[in-house]
Amino acid sequence: MKPMSDAFNEAAHPLLRNLDRARTCARMYPPEHPYVEESRRLLTASVEELLLLRDSVTVSISDGDIFVEGHHIPDDGGSFEPLISDLTRRELVSITFVHGITVDELAAFILVSVARPPDLEAMGGVEAALERKAVRGVLIGRKSLALPTDEESRKHAETVRVSRDVYHSAVQAVIEAFAEVSSREMVNLDLVEGVVRMLVSGVLQHPETYLGLSTMKDFHEYTFYHSVNVAILSMLMGSKLRFNEALLHKVGVAALLHDIGKVQMPIEILDKPGRLTPEEFDCMKTHCAKGARILAQHSADPLAILTAAQHHVHYDRGGYPDCDIPEGLHVISHLITIADVYDALTSDRSYRTAMLPDRAMQIIIEGRGTTFHPELTKVFANLTGMFPVGTLVELDTAERAVVCKPNPANIYRPKAKLLTPPGSDTLVSRDVDLTDRDTDGRYLRSIVRSIEPRDHQINVADYV
Ligand SMILES: [Fe+2]
Repeated sequence: MKPMSDAFNEAAHPLLRNLDRARTCARMYPPEHPYVEESRRLLTASVEELLLLRDSVTVSISDGDIFVEGHHIPDDGGSFEPLISDLTRRELVSITFVHGITVDELAAFILVSVARPPDLEAMGGVEAALERKAVRGVLIGRKSLALPTDEESRKHAETVRVSRDVYHSAVQAVIEAFAEVSSREMVNLDLVEGVVRMLVSGVLQHPETYLGLSTMKDFHEYTFYHSVNVAILSMLMGSKLRFNEALLHKVGVAALLHDIGKVQMPIEILDKPGRLTPEEFDCMKTHCAKGARILAQHSADPLAILTAAQHHVHYDRGGYPDCDIPEGLHVISHLITIADVYDALTSDRSYRTAMLPDRAMQIIIEGRGTTFHPELTKVFANLTGMFPVGTLVELDTAERAVVCKPNPANIYRPKAKLLTPPGSDTLVSRDVDLTDRDTDGRYLRSIVRSIEPRDHQINVADYV
């Protein structure tokens, strides 16, 4: 190992700090956000400074320590801990920046390095994603994934893999349907029908896996992920209500296409970072009628046409459009409204950040009997629990955990995956049941409060 020169030593710390910062900003903000641009500029400057001294520079991780060019970089204050644990969890054990790397390559690498595992899987893995984005100036080293050894774990891993494929196929089907409408082509409803068949089968066979998948979000492709999440949550509610497969299928198609009228909304209104003006809101309200018209033109199922028109009317008719429906709103419109509002509240939008899942649940429960159908609200609360799947919680043992399975028998005591030790974000694959008690009958662990995953650089979708 060559001795580390003073110049190199002085540049190594900023490189790690700026790499960490760039990854954090890329997770939290859209690419054009000033914080992201600034973090990219700082990282580029750090990399370029080191590449003045060498042809390449490698950041590597081994046994919880971080190295630059093989030299251990002490982390006295623990400030590199989130970077080390996240890269370790992603099995990205070495990153080499090569002389000649461009700013665009660096920006593309950062996005890939923080992508959600299911999204990476859909792109064929980290290497394929970098290849696809033509990133030549970054080389990565990965530790091979340990395959589960027992039969049950193998089956579970396979179920999750297949279910994620179905999820991404559904996202793709919605993207294509919206693109066809905006280019005035006929929507290929066969594609939508096909993915909904897979979703119905998945929701019936593996409801918990699909409930976990419904926490997936994508800021830039919000409408498409949102449509799939609304479809999954609506079908899961339908399944609780013992709908037969044919009706679940209709619910899936209707939910997947409920917002198709948004293709005819001006992008500056859809993505407006602030509050809509009264005129803009009036325009936004027309997406319901426009969606219903589009679906009628494509001879979609009458239920899909109806729910596109009614999904914002609300139980007490306090929403929009203002309409007189003597026979009452269709029950599936009520059902889609709950799933729609819940997923919207828990997603990042251009005008606000995502709400914690339990806070969103409280809002749904507070709205029962006014915005939401009271009986269906109960069904939804029973499905998700008061601390829905994907909620990061603090326990009375000072441990943190991610809720991974609801408990219909006690909606306050779900099953969770423990993050340990206290104060650390490192995941240990340990499931805990919050109904477990000690020999004196006291609960071993109870939820104290939910906490913001972003403050701890945790992507909860990785754990559910
Ligand atoms: Fe809508």
